[in-house]
Order: sequence, then C-alpha cells, then structure tokens
Amino acid sequence: MTETVWQLDHLLHGGDYYPEQWQADPDILAQDMAYMQEAKITTATVGVFAWSALAPREGEWHFAWLDQVFDQLAAIGVNVILATPSGAKPAWLARRYPSVLRTDENGQRQLYGERHNHCLTDPVYRRYVAEIDRRLADRYGQRSNLLLWHISNEYSGACYCDQCQAAFRDWLKQRYGNLAALNEAWATTFWSHQYDDWAEVTAPMPSGNQTNGGQNVDWQRFVSAQTIDFYDQEVKAVRAGGSQAPVTTNFMAETGDLLPYHQVDYAAFAKHVDVVAWDAYPGWNEPKASNCQVAMKNAFINDYFRGLKQANFLLMESAPSLTNWHPNDRVRAKRPGQLKLTSLQFLAHGADSVMYFQWRQSRGGWEKFHGAVVGHDGSDQQRVFQEVSQVGQCLTQLQSIVGVPRARAKVAILFDQENVWHMANTPFTPLNRRYWHALQQQYQYFWEQDIPVDVLPPDAELSGYQLVFDLMAYATSSALEAKLTKFVRAGGTLVMGYLSALVDTADRAVLGGFSPVLRELLGIYRLEVDSLFPETVNTVAYRGQQYQVTDTAEVITLTGAVSLATYTADFYAGTPAVTYHSFGQGHAYYLASHNDQAFSAAFNAQLVEDLGLARVATIKADPTVSVQRRATATGVVDFVLNFTDAPRAVIVNTGGVDLLMGHQIDPGTQTLARDGVMAIQH
Ligand code: GAL
Repeated sequence: MTETVWQLDHLLHGGDYYPEQWQADPDILAQDMAYMQEAKITTATVGVFAWSALAPREGEWHFAWLDQVFDQLAAIGVNVILATPSGAKPAWLARRYPSVLRTDENGQRQLYGERHNHCLTDPVYRRYVAEIDRRLADRYGQRSNLLLWHISNEYSGACYCDQCQAAFRDWLKQRYGNLAALNEAWATTFWSHQYDDWAEVTAPMPSGNQTNGGQNVDWQRFVSAQTIDFYDQEVKAVRAGGSQAPVTTNFMAETGDLLPYHQVDYAAFAKHVDVVAWDAYPGWNEPKASNCQVAMKNAFINDYFRGLKQANFLLMESAPSLTNWHPNDRVRAKRPGQLKLTSLQFLAHGADSVMYFQWRQSRGGWEKFHGAVVGHDGSDQQRVFQEVSQVGQCLTQLQSIVGVPRARAKVAILFDQENVWHMANTPFTPLNRRYWHALQQQYQYFWEQDIPVDVLPPDAELSGYQLVFDLMAYATSSALEAKLTKFVRAGGTLVMGYLSALVDTADRAVLGGFSPVLRELLGIYRLEVDSLFPETVNTVAYRGQQYQVTDTAEVITLTGAVSLATYTADFYAGTPAVTYHSFGQGHAYYLASHNDQAFSAAFNAQLVEDLGLARVATIKADPTVSVQRRATATGVVDFVLNFTDAPRAVIVNTGGVDLLMGHQIDPGTQTLARDGVMAIQH
C-alpha cells in the first residue's frame, strides 16, 4: 500500500507499442524508431499483451526481442513503461490449467479466448503470473530506461468459480466473524434466507439469489478487494524480481457518461499505486451530446481521477483519431486541430502525460482499424501522425507545469463508489447513473464559471474546502456523517440532497425515517419519497422563478431549517423543496428534489456570491470556453480551451506568454479559433 505520489520530471508523450506483432519485419521496427523521434515520443508502453511472445510454450522463454526493444528505445532516448502481461493469457496455459479460465455468473466456465477474463483467485493463475512478472523484473528492473511498471491492463469483471465462492466466504468470515452477524447484516429472516452453515453462502447469481442488497454490496466489495489483492501480488512479484521502479495500472471510465468503471473501488485501489493512470475515450463529435457537453464530462472525470490521490495523474491511453468500438456503431474521426485541444484538456486538469492507444495499427485482430499514430499506410505524412507530432511539440513547450500539483480548490464534490453498489438495490432504478449525472450537473455550473472543483472520495480530508456537495448520499456511513457535521460546525457549507441516508453500509434501511445525525445537521426530516415518471413534471418556486423537477421529489418537513423553495404541484404543493440550516459556524442546504440545470445555476450562483468563491480570474470567457489553471514552480499557466464549433472571443485580463505560440498575449479581447487552445503563462 502506498500513500506516496510519484513525481515526474518531464511530461510524457507516448503510447501502447506492440513490437511483438512486427518481429518478422525489422524495417517496420526501424521505422518505428525514426518515427518516434519525429513525433517527439518520450515513452513507449511495451508488453501489455506479450505473454505468448515471451513464453510461447510452458517453460520456454523468449526475451531476446524485448531486450532489443529496450536497446532500440534507449538509443533514441525513449523510456519504457513496462507492462506485466496478465491482461491476456497464452492458449497453452488455459489448455493445461483450465482453472485459470473465468467462470461466468451462470456458473459456466468460459472457453479460451479474448482477454481480461481470468480467475483472479486461482492459485495456478497467480503462480504463473507471478513467475513471468518476476522474470521481467529480474531482466529489465535495472534498465536505465525503465520508467514505470504498468501492472496488467484494465482489471475488470468477476469470476464465479468455486474457488472464488470459497474466497468470498473467507472474506465474509473476516468481515463478520460469525454467521449470526452475517445473518443480521444481510437481514436474512426476510424470505427465510437465514444461513446455518458457511457453505450455504454463495455469490449473487441469476439462478440463485440476486435480491439481497447486503449480499450484493458485499460481493462487489469482495470483487474489488480481490482485484486489488491480485494487483498487489503482481507488484510483490515485481519487487521480488529486484525492481523498485514505481507502479501503476490503467483505470478506466465508461465512454458516453464517462462514469468510472464500476466493479472496482478506485479510491481504495489508488492507495496501492504510485501514480493514478487512466484510459480516456470520450465520445467526441457524436450527435447525442455537443462537444462542450463532452468536454464538461471529461473535465469532471479528470478531476475525479486527480482527486483519488489529490495529485497529478497520467493519461495512459487515448485515441489519436477514431476508436473501433463506440456503442452506437459509428466512430467519428477527430477533426483537424481536435487532437491538440482534447489532449491539452487532460493536462489542464492535472495529467502529466499524453499517451495513445496505439502507436501502430495492428495488421489483424479486433483493433486493426482502431486509430493509431502510424496507420496501415506506414506514412509519417498522414494527418494524424502530423497532429500527434504537434502535440509532442506542445508538450516540450509546456514543461514548466510538470509535477506541480494544482492548488486545492475551494469546492469539493464527493463521489463514493460504494454508494453506486448500494444504489443497484433500490426500487428507484437505475440510480447509479443518476447519481453520477446529479454530481455532473452541479459540476457543470462551476466548470462553466471557471471555478475549480476537486472531486473527492468520501474519506478525503475536507478542511480547507469552503463548499462541499454530498448529493444522493444514499448509503452514508456514520464516519462520513460525523465528518460532514464537523465540517459544517467549523464553518463549512454543505449541500446534501434527495435520497440521502436511506440505507446503512449493510444496505439495511435506516430506522426512524431519517438519520438522526443528518436531521440535526440539516434541520429537516424526510416524510416520503416520490419517484416520478419521465412524463411527470413538478416545479419548484425559488427566488421568484419556477424550475422543473424530474425523477425524484421528497416530501420533507422542517425541524430547524428554513425553506428556500417550495413545490408548486401534487399533494405536496407548498411544502419545502430546498432548505437552509445554520449549524455551528457553517451552513447546511438540502435539495429535496432533482431540479433542472437552470435551478443549479441559480442556486450555485447564490452560493458563489455568498461565499465569495473566485473564478480563474485572469481570463474572462463565455461559459462555453473552459479555463483551467495549473501551477508551475514559479507561477501559473491558464489553459483556455474552446470546444465549440465556432471561434470565440475571450477577454484576457492579465497578459502573459502563450506557451504554445511562444508569443506575448496582451490584455484585451482575443479570438480563440474553433478547437483553439491557449496556455498563457503568468
Ligand atoms: C482500452 C484497452 C486497450 C485497447 C483500447 C482501444 O480499453 O486497454 O488495450 O483495447 O481500449 O480503445
């Protein structure tokens, strides 16, 4: 476990490199070296799926090609991010030891194929992975151009084999000590599900039990813990091989909503990596959402990944052009200039790298048409290659930001992965996605106003923040409630919202209608929850305006708070919908319903005024242009990013040098081209 953060001394420009696919073609490998220099590549991520190239048969090791890759890259000054190959296994391993194969939730062992589908409990898989990891560390651990370990690839999914079920029971024994405690936590008297023997307890499966919230949430906790444990044993093997280089793995987010991958608690996982790294595939140029909307979502998820360690992070993968798997069966190319704009957005939010999947398009396989720096034409004259080279050039001009963490924001939004797991068990479904949307909706206002926000896990320290959002905190722990109380008592401003504290951490309903701690803090008491059909709309009247209510409206009563807004319709017309409570030195608000974006803007504008929250002040832009500030050792760099389809005027209040263009920007009105970006150093 590590709470340390690895600091880089230069911005990384690189991507996934698969030289094992081109061993029969030395000219291509030689061309790669020349092209990498041309594109100002500084790192190559090697070995991600190279197990069968390294060990084509049991006991037979082929390292010569990888030795050469290290040498060739070293000769051109390119560092290696070396992956352990456990993301995909060789066929011989599965044929000889079928226990390595994953069993699906119907209890069916999968056939060999694909990737990311191993049993993470199986001792055989663990042993073979540890062996190859140790050998890699032993052979390459002392190489001067080994920069970082990339442990496995995008850990995901769950296995339901007997070994995993037994490990789940062991995990439960650790958690509960005895069956009586488990029965109590899972409320198993309901439907006569009391367990009398540990052997009776299973994972939630379609042909068995899938409706017990406590069981479901514990299974998710177990899967997450087991994944992290597998990662830990890979790191242990790397250390046993003699390498002390820093370690990470690539986290991910679902495309579209850019919701964090849901089966691992990244906040817990982040404590085990030296630097957070993630793979980003936002859906640019799609009809469903404007690029501005996508940029806002991308900003939010980047702030989430930065918040995991409250430190700079790595963009491990991104598409230089199109992907080959977007869910709507259409894949748009990035239009000219967009690669630079979208890549620099990651830097603006705290990434210290721009890295791609993939360096060169594969000849065959599922991803042969996925965008790459070098396409099948093998040309460095191609548009994408040229634009990647321009990004490389930009990074050399932005070196002053590397390793310097962004100043803490004054506004924090809490996101709790466990809450997502709990929300899968409500009648008000699908809440998990609405939870993320509700947080995004608040974030959008601050993003448009260029007011920095930190997105934080629930165990983060809150002192120093002025304003904290903990919305839809469906399952709040007593520790979090105590922390929020302390925060407000000491002068903080807290915004909580509907569907908070309905269940405890075991997924049992909170008795007494509403948490007594929150009742005291918020000065309200919940009477009922109304879950609205999409066609049903209510409104709230707030400061002389009416705003739409959708999804959820709670009926609450005041126990100390004052009402700031009331519902206008239904049997609860005239009752409070937004409340304010003065508590200790601070202020606690409650939003009883899901109100529209216009409400969020009006409500947050008032908070910003009341609290005197400052925007990034050197550039005044219209809401569609994003301004994000990064610190340097001696000052700041303001990234000004235009995601709209048209040029935008921005008013620069304080001049400085645009590091990208290399010239002075004077105070006054500037025009930022479509897809334009400036990085003004002050
Ligand atoms: C990532 C994965 C890569 C590649 C890429 C394609 O999720 O780690 O190996 O498949 O997607 O977009």
